[in-house]
Amino acid sequence: MSFHIVEQAPARLNRSELAVPGSNPTFMEKAAKSNADVVFLDLEDAVAPDDKVQARKNIIEALNDLDWSGKTISVRINGLDTHYMYRDVVDVIEQAGQNLDMIMIPKVGTASDVYALDMMCTQIEDNMKIEKRIGFELIIETALGMQNLTEIGAASSRNGSLHFGVADYAASTKARTTVIGGPNADYAVLTDPDSDGNRDVHWGDMWHYPIAKMVVVARANGLRPIDGPFGDFSDADGYAAQAMRASTLGCEGKWAIHPSQIDQANDLFSPSDEEIKKAHRILEAMEQAKKDGLGAVALDGRLIDIASIKQAEVMVDKAAQIAGN
Ligand code: GLV
Ligand code: MG
Repeated sequence: MSFHIVEQAPARLNRSELAVPGSNPTFMEKAAKSNADVVFLDLEDAVAPDDKVQARKNIIEALNDLDWSGKTISVRINGLDTHYMYRDVVDVIEQAGQNLDMIMIPKVGTASDVYALDMMCTQIEDNMKIEKRIGFELIIETALGMQNLTEIGAASSRNGSLHFGVADYAASTKARTTVIGGPNADYAVLTDPDSDGNRDVHWGDMWHYPIAKMVVVARANGLRPIDGPFGDFSDADGYAAQAMRASTLGCEGKWAIHPSQIDQANDLFSPSDEEIKKAHRILEAMEQAKKDGLGAVALDGRLIDIASIKQAEVMVDKAAQIAGN
């Protein structure tokens, strides 16, 4: 283990993250009663320019009047390149900061973007005598943000999670796709011909690199890596496949852009009973190995060693976090 200890951001369940437009009070009321672990009320891309001011008022009202207990509540502010942003931060924190857990910052490009928001939040919280520190959810969705991810991940002690914003990332990198998330038939390779000359098409996951990079930077800074949206909300199987590949890489959750995706995400990002049972068996086997003075033993015909304890503990800790919710 390195001498450098990675401080963990405050633990929060983040299996499902529901996106709710701030322009729609009815959706916000429904969101407060939903099973989502995290809800973000949106002032950015789901709100048309003419509706921004009213959406800000709606969100302040929703934060103050609705019961958000049992969830993490966040507000996605507008980007730092817009004139909406400063009022989003000032009005929302001044008028409802006590009831807000996190701010979601879109299109983060540099560590200075995070620093600027940290400074603003600190001033407003101090002035309003808000004791708790509002956390940051950072959306990585531009080529610049991806390039500077290492510094961004470490830019503030308010950082709680990194999110992969696949739609804006596709636009920023000029990727040849117009869907929101999901695979692309053009991102594929052909196998060599078999003895009959037949070839198979193997689809790749064109989002593997950014998600894998985000997971590394998030974990190196004690943050939660979260996979972003999947636009085709009528394709439950497609959503499940995207969620499972993100979970397998280490992501803790995925956005739900439709209520139907909430329970799916909660289920897919929770360890199964079988996984938890196996993790307990590994811990028991390693406990016995320790007593026997061994560093590694076989379990079900496979090698397990001291690293296996840490993997099993991740699973058991996650299960305990979910059970305690
Ligand atoms: C989310 O904001 C995205 O651009 O995918
Ligand atoms: Mg976006």
